[in-house]
Amino acid sequence: MEIRPTHTPSRELLLLADESEASVADYVSRSRCYAAFEGDTIVGQYLLLHTRPFTAEIVNIAVMPARQRRGIGTALLHHAIRTARAEGFRLLEIGTGDCGTGQIALYERCGFVRCGIDRDYFRKHYPAPIFEHGVECRHMVRLRMELFEERPAE
Ligand code: ACO
Repeated sequence: MEIRPTHTPSRELLLLADESEASVADYVSRSRCYAAFEGDTIVGQYLLLHTRPFTAEIVNIAVMPARQRRGIGTALLHHAIRTARAEGFRLLEIGTGDCGTGQIALYERCGFVRCGIDRDYFRKHYPAPIFEHGVECRHMVRLRMELFEERPAE
């Protein structure tokens, strides 16, 4: 498996991570995509978006269902952290639904720290309610990672 930039993200993977076409359309052309390739096939990918000064966000990350839980998501997250740090970002952010306990644990294992809740994000911005395991996914859990221990000299 090799992770490298691509200009042609998998649409299937984009919608696997974010079921709102309008949401994906909002950020896809402004983001850079890095994909995990097995041969010529994309098995996972993430989008990195420059959101505000010194800050980037992983706005979309997904792995093909048949390839999940084999470490590809972790490898993509570590790649995103290295990429953002190498590009001089000071903060890396990620957000997911409050019902995504597996994803939240994965992000925390990679070093992200919970920093807030965007209340009713999915009710406000998604066309229909989202349910996982019978529980409505209402809020977005926000996580962040400081990429510098100390503020670098200007
Ligand atoms: N249920 C339970 N645990 C999960 C889940 C889940 N649905 N998803 C991730 N995890 C956690 C578990 O801790 C798991 O560890 P375990 O297998 O030892 O129990 C660990 O993540 C798996 O780690 P990896 O194998 O490195 O991750 P994977 O290759 O499976 O990729 C990903 C993780 C990207 C979340 C994948 O499950 C996926 O594509 N899910 C569907 C799309 C999605 O939800 N994307 C994230 C939305 S948020 C956003 O895009 C910013």
